Amino acid sequence: MFDTESSTYTYLITDENSQEAVLIDPVATHIEQYITLLNEHELTLKYALETHVHADHITASGMLRERLAIKTGVSELCGTTTADIQLNDGDVLTIGDKTINVIATPGHTAGSVSFLYNDRIFTGDTLLINGCGRTDFQGGSAEMLFESITNKIFTLADDTLVYPGHDYNGRCVSSVVQEKSINPRLAGKTKEEFIVMMNSLDLPMPKLIDIAVPANRKCGLPEPEVVQG
Ligand SMILES: [Fe+2]
Repeated sequence: MFDTESSTYTYLITDENSQEAVLIDPVATHIEQYITLLNEHELTLKYALETHVHADHITASGMLRERLAIKTGVSELCGTTTADIQLNDGDVLTIGDKTINVIATPGHTAGSVSFLYNDRIFTGDTLLINGCGRTDFQGGSAEMLFESITNKIFTLADDTLVYPGHDYNGRCVSSVVQEKSINPRLAGKTKEEFIVMMNSLDLPMPKLIDIAVPANRKCGLPEPEVVQG
């Protein structure tokens, strides 16, 4: 599913036998769409997972937990203390008899992870189609991003499908070999060249960063009201 406001992709993975399902990077404004879709297909949502704490939209994960009694999962390194599952590299989540592997891919943010499901990897903002996430806030590091992409994602089988967290040009899927071959930020680039290029991007801050990041550190839910006296 696609959020046109932030150009965010949200992914639904299901296991057809158990009818269990996972949402990756759900967006708050689309919660009714997700619930309708789950109901239409008679799916039981088990997890709402985040590839990282987003700066450009508010997550639906906390609201999904309130509505559907699911578990939310965010990297331990994101500081989202209210998440039910603090994800770590190597963790394995299950829906029915299917597995989703958590791969730490820091760089866009310190707590960024990717999710590997069969021959598909959901890369969040670590690796985009013909691009990659910026590295200039939330503990980002161009050096770490280069290591994550080249040592973790590019060592997967060439025909692994790459599903990014965003696309701003209408594309929805790529592959490891495609990104290795033609991604202009990475193909043929040394780590030093990549770091210089990333550190000179000089991008404007995301409009929602001051609202989205604190909210997403609480699974997208507002601060509980403090009752005085
Ligand atoms: Fe991001």
